[in-house]
Amino acid sequence: MADEMGIFETMYHCRAMRRLKPDPVPEELLLKLVDAANQAPTGSNAQGARWIVVRDPEQRAKLAALNKTAVASYAAPGGGRAAALPHQDADKRQRMLAAVLWQAEHMQDIPALVIACYKFGQPVRQGQAMGGGSIWPAVQNLLLAARALGLGAAPTTLGLANRAAAREVLGLPDDMEAFCLIPVGYPMGNFGPVVRLPVQETVRWDRWE
Ligand SMILES: Cc1cc2nc3c(=O)[nH]c(=O)nc-3n(C[C@H](O)[C@H](O)[C@H](O)COP(=O)(O)O)c2cc1C
Repeated sequence: MADEMGIFETMYHCRAMRRLKPDPVPEELLLKLVDAANQAPTGSNAQGARWIVVRDPEQRAKLAALNKTAVASYAAPGGGRAAALPHQDADKRQRMLAAVLWQAEHMQDIPALVIACYKFGQPVRQGQAMGGGSIWPAVQNLLLAARALGLGAAPTTLGLANRAAAREVLGLPDDMEAFCLIPVGYPMGNFGPVVRLPVQETVRWDRWE
């Protein structure tokens, strides 16, 4: 326990790690990630988070193909991607895109694709599917747990954009929705600090204006 990362160090060093080795991740670690994820809160304590850990090569290839198609649209000119942002210059965004493209090429080789789902207990309505307030805290828990265990991971949604196709691949019943695809593996590169807006830019006291 003593040499585990502290919670703040983990939060401040939990970057999206997209370039991952094909080496398998032990099942007990994958279960540990999901168990940590499940400690997150859910609305009304409904505890509807459900997880599909995709390790089968054929299943990974199908999800990788969906992701590749969506990434190609995202990366294409006019794909809606900002070339630069006030807090992230064009060079840095280009490097991020390179990592997204790398992952699109190699997703089928990443050992575990963890799909964060939510079980609503009734047929999923569009609005519910868009929400996700009861699954994203769990996704962040999983990302933090992965970081603390030295595993690379990143939250992704592009591969699930074709909802009908993703539902078919994952065999989802009509009361479940998939929200996030988290590739998990041992990182090729180094972990590092995240770069975020200074807190002063993001907070006002008592009222916005
Ligand atoms: C809702 C959401 C959707 C995302 N979708 C994708 C995605 O489809 N593909 C991808 O490579 N990264 C995706 N990301 C990861 C973001 O690009 C990443 O968290 C952001 O660039 C910050 O990266 P950093 O933590 O390394 O600074 C997504 C993140 C969130 C929160």
